[in-house]
Amino acid sequence: MSGFLDGMTILVTGASDGIGAELAKELAAAGAGTLVLSGRDMKRLERTRDQCSVPCELVCADLSSKKGVESLLQSISHLEIDGLVNNAGVGLGGGFSESSCADQEDMIYLNCQSVMQLTHHLLDPMKKRGKGFILFVGSMIGFVGGPGMTTYSATKGFVNRFSETLRWELEGTGVRVTLLAPGVTRTSFFTSAGISEDHIRSGQMGAGKVAKVAVRGVLKRKATVIPGVLNNILFQMLRFVPRGQIGFVSRKMFAKIYKDTEGTSN
Ligand SMILES: NC(=O)c1ccc[n+]([C@@H]2O[C@H](COP(=O)([O-])OP(=O)(O)OC[C@H]3O[C@@H](n4cnc5c(N)ncnc54)[C@H](OP(=O)(O)O)[C@@H]3O)[C@@H](O)[C@H]2O)c1
Repeated sequence: MSGFLDGMTILVTGASDGIGAELAKELAAAGAGTLVLSGRDMKRLERTRDQCSVPCELVCADLSSKKGVESLLQSISHLEIDGLVNNAGVGLGGGFSESSCADQEDMIYLNCQSVMQLTHHLLDPMKKRGKGFILFVGSMIGFVGGPGMTTYSATKGFVNRFSETLRWELEGTGVRVTLLAPGVTRTSFFTSAGISEDHIRSGQMGAGKVAKVAVRGVLKRKATVIPGVLNNILFQMLRFVPRGQIGFVSRKMFAKIYKDTEGTSN
């Protein structure tokens, strides 16, 4: 038993699948009292609930619009939320100009604006109680940048920096802030982003392992959790390697993704 999470009511967004579903299970196992599981698909939320060992409330909401975020906040207004896991997110693969502005705007809303709004709404009560936590799910790509996932990379850059800065701001308030920045993880993420599995390099981690490391990071008050040895080495290298060289390598690594739609050949 962790102690810190004991009896907490925790909202997990994007809990119907992938990393979010695994985080829900881990949080339940680590002592959470009640989980609020959010996503758009009730059937899949029920599946996650059935795998969690604590009482769960399920809330269907599409967080890619203000209306959806407000509807989630309305549905949980009777609850005292002690922990927030900002996990829901989508990607969009291919050349930047190949995706419509509307699709990119929806992704920016879900990956960035909904994160800011939920945090804004739920933080003050945690501060008043002097206890709570927010776990942000950013990404390694937010540090590196991935051609073929340009806008997605920028949204995760936002989450990475938002988490780090909010943590600095909240020091001494009793509210913990942790960033989870996974590398490639085996979920439906890439298929949903329109990216072929063949274009993803090896070294993928399982979502269960990622979630385990993340919850351990919250308990240890970590600022940033990078799952996997290779991702950690890459993270350290980013400090020393000039951005131009990172861009060169990143362009090669992600080439199949943007060439798929743009048809360029170099
Ligand atoms: N997989 C990776 O390689 C990887 C790497 C780094 C970071 N991440 C991040 O990890 C987080 C979880 O992704 P995942 O890999 O677990 O992908 P996933 O298996 O596709 O799960 C995405 C979750 O987000 C929810 N979601 C999607 N669109 C939504 C919307 N409009 N409104 C509300 N919920 C929505 C989905 O639920 P519904 O479909 O039921 O709405 C689902 O529960 C994302 O923030 C992603 O950026 C993933």
